[in-house]
Amino acid sequence: MKNSHRLLALALTCAALSAYGADAAATWTDQCAKCHGADGKGETKMGKKLGIADLTDAAIQAKFTDADVLKFVKEGIKDKEGKLAMKPIEGLTDDDIKALVPVVRGFKK
Ligand code: HEC
Repeated sequence: MKNSHRLLALALTCAALSAYGADAAATWTDQCAKCHGADGKGETKMGKKLGIADLTDAAIQAKFTDADVLKFVKEGIKDKEGKLAMKPIEGLTDDDIKALVPVVRGFKK
């Protein structure tokens, strides 16, 4: 009896985890990919126009922290002239953005 409960709990945890992951991937596709690309390389029309860095590049990944990702998405990013380069992305909760961190990090080669 005990063992089957444990198995059930494990199965439920797995289901919850994969749902979480799928949501974050969908958020990336909906909210981020038009600039950063589905593969994070930034090779989109917008990405080229805005000079977006390649998120598969380890050197780029090293330039920002996980906390920065939260800040970037909530507050946007300004370029050297103080112009808004990446606009704040609206409609995402802190948890939505935190779930995106592994997606962003996952592009690193
Ligand atoms: C309107 C286009 C646009 C959208 C949409 C967008 N970004 Fe950006 N993003 C930029 C620009 C421009 C920069 C700064 C240029 C650069 O360095 O890549 C940037 C930079 C970043 C960086 C810092 C790394 C870097 O390249 O300097 C992260 C992390 C990031 N974006 C994550 C996201 C996430 C997560 C989303 C979706 C929630 C998102 N972005 C949506 C345009 C966009």
